[in-house]
Amino acid sequence: MQIFRDMAGLNAGLAALRADGGRIAMVPTMGALHAGHMALVTRARALAEHVVVSIFVNPTQFGPNEDLAAYPRREAEDAALLEAAGVDILWAPGVEVMYPQGFATSIRVAGVSEGLDGAARPGHFDGVATVVARLFGQVRPDVACFGEKDYQQLSVIRRLVADLSLRVAIKGVPTERDRDGLALSSRNAYLGPRERALAVALPETLVTAGEAISGREDVPAILAWATRYLIDSGFDSVDYVALCDAGDLAPMTVLDRPARLLVAARIGGTRLIDNIAVNP
Ligand code: PAJ
Repeated sequence: MQIFRDMAGLNAGLAALRADGGRIAMVPTMGALHAGHMALVTRARALAEHVVVSIFVNPTQFGPNEDLAAYPRREAEDAALLEAAGVDILWAPGVEVMYPQGFATSIRVAGVSEGLDGAARPGHFDGVATVVARLFGQVRPDVACFGEKDYQQLSVIRRLVADLSLRVAIKGVPTERDRDGLALSSRNAYLGPRERALAVALPETLVTAGEAISGREDVPAILAWATRYLIDSGFDSVDYVALCDAGDLAPMTVLDRPARLLVAARIGGTRLIDNIAVNP
């Protein structure tokens, strides 16, 4: 595996891969890799002859009171995992390469990025859309893999790629979970043992509420129950529990088409998100 930190190196590495023929699959990440990220890499390898993984902790998608400084950074361990997984190129630019002097563009995807995490984290998806568009411009992959764990992010990227006619196929990959059902996340590392034990209420709430909604129970009543259940289980606050259209994430009060049940809640200083499919 080759590791590049500047455009000259990346361009040379990509040219060598392209001279070889075959497709390039990309997996954008912020590092601190876990089995969820590695599931994307496995999928990428199945989709293309060559795999490029990026690691860049993108400052523009963090709010002023968020965890940018504390975000876990483990590049040596990450590189070893990616090498063992057969990745061809690790693209690990610094901030000065990603946002050089004079950088002036910001991409805002209206609609799908406005509710849920977009409401709770103003500007977050502008940062994500802009950096992902730039990563696609740098690497020019044929296909790119994103996790359903961040379902709204996946929806924003699909909209971005469709609207800008970017020539990259977007693949969503199912969420990898711990044995007790908690979705794997770099932010789980912030949880103390007591918090980690009670965090299991998040996936439990989704499964129970999802079954009730599929069973035709009243959607607003179930969403209110889910919020209460999370608080009773020890979560400190709930940003949202919402049933949304699986495509454009418009809120739904009746299950009349494929939907996604999404939740964001906080334990101590840690904000966790999760979601599942709910179908009529
Ligand atoms: P990061 O949080 O590092 O996640 C990178 C990719 O891994 C995302 O597509 C995310 O959905 C996926 N992922 C995370 N946990 C997962 C799990 N448990 N199962 C399956 N996939 C999982 O998301 C970002 O970085 C950034 O916003 C990024 C897209 C890189 C732009 O900066």
